[in-house]
Amino acid sequence: MPTMALATLVHPTGSHPASWLHPSTAAGGSTDIAHYRALAQLAERGMFDLFFIADTPAARTTNLEAYARFPLFMNVFEPLTLLSALAGATTHIGLGGTASTSFSEPYNIARQFASLDHISGGRAAWNVVTSANDFAARNFGLDRLPPHGDRYERAREFVDVVRKLWDTWEDGAFLRDRESGLFFDPAKQHPVAHEGAHFRVHGALNIERAPQGQPVIIQAGASDTGREFAAETAELVFSSDSTVESGRRFYADLKGRMARHGRPPEALKVLAGLPAIVADSEQEAEDMYQTLQALIHPDVGRMRLGMDLEADLSGLPLDEPIPPERIPASANLHRAYFEHILGLIREGLTLRQLYMRYERGNRTIRGTPRQVADHMEEWFTTGAADGFMLTFSVLPAGMEAFIAKVVPELQRRGLVKREWAGRTLRENVGLRRPPNRHVAGG
Ligand SMILES: Cc1cc2nc3c(=O)[nH]c(=O)nc-3n(C[C@H](O)[C@H](O)[C@H](O)COP(=O)(O)O)c2cc1C
Repeated sequence: MPTMALATLVHPTGSHPASWLHPSTAAGGSTDIAHYRALAQLAERGMFDLFFIADTPAARTTNLEAYARFPLFMNVFEPLTLLSALAGATTHIGLGGTASTSFSEPYNIARQFASLDHISGGRAAWNVVTSANDFAARNFGLDRLPPHGDRYERAREFVDVVRKLWDTWEDGAFLRDRESGLFFDPAKQHPVAHEGAHFRVHGALNIERAPQGQPVIIQAGASDTGREFAAETAELVFSSDSTVESGRRFYADLKGRMARHGRPPEALKVLAGLPAIVADSEQEAEDMYQTLQALIHPDVGRMRLGMDLEADLSGLPLDEPIPPERIPASANLHRAYFEHILGLIREGLTLRQLYMRYERGNRTIRGTPRQVADHMEEWFTTGAADGFMLTFSVLPAGMEAFIAKVVPELQRRGLVKREWAGRTLRENVGLRRPPNRHVAGG
């Protein structure tokens, strides 16, 4: 029986917006490499396949009263730099990070992730995002993000060029043969000749082909365009669904799109987002959740909801519904999150109820080890997920509890591996090593 892939998205003190206020977390962890090293080693001991760092290339510059209480991405390491350091502190866990196709060039990204793949011995993964905030745009010469469709068009071409660059050297091109005096075999270089709507690249990467052939491509776009892009290019997809039924629909939809792009369904693994709080009793887990929820300042609640609704919610009373005239007709940032909030608004919730309920498409599972394992087993065995992207409300305590209590239970059920399948991320999650396009039958 195949086993499930386990990934974890790590924010320094945990995924809950108030995690840094909780006494169990290290408030200074965000720029402390020892803190991240310990987290990555913990995840590796727990047989996680992937340690993932999300990113946006900007600190917010407005609404600072609220961001001062919820410092997401306000003081963080650049992901590639961080992951390179973690490569030296771990041996098997995959190292994934976000880099935006809207604010970089394919050559930079191809080179950085190829380097990380070498540094880590085949454990690199790139989360391809088009970015979804104007703060980032303003750091890169733009006033605001280009429209959604244009960002995805650029992303498609961007990934295509990156992959071409990753194939510019055949495996084994670097001979380092002192006898013949040849450091590399000139016949094994295949420069890119790309002329597209967004990029012109004529040249080759200055690093040999990656241990994984190509680093793993991750994608998490939820819109129709995002899904189509994932079906065409992604190997790991982070999904966000709050029920097993919608999880199955997403899974079937995404895998169903792959044939059009000539890809078999097993070439892509869906990792369902799962915020989890595990404790010995259901009540204890619920209490932990409510303790954290109570720490959300109303300004933070308003701001987080407003960000994804793309609406200014300041000044509105907390215990009344949002007036319809404040709700935009459509979204340019996170379409799926936007639709999800509209659904909650239609239920008639007040502003306070909305921000307490809204979890960016997910729902935190609070339960005993058995309940959490049952949930994961159901999703895994009924076609809603090939694995999970776990987030823990507080770190490291949340991850420690999961590893101590849930992982052994899943192993007993034969759902999580006990031994590593190999040394590369591809081997451990069951993705094949891509052949080089320039090598016949390669
Ligand atoms: C687990 C997970 C991690 C994500 N990480 C990032 C990230 O690091 N940076 C980012 O800009 N977007 C991130 N996203 C957002 C998605 O990449 C995507 O922009 C969003 O789901 C909207 O998709 P759409 O534009 O196709 O609607 C993440 C989404 C999920 C579910």
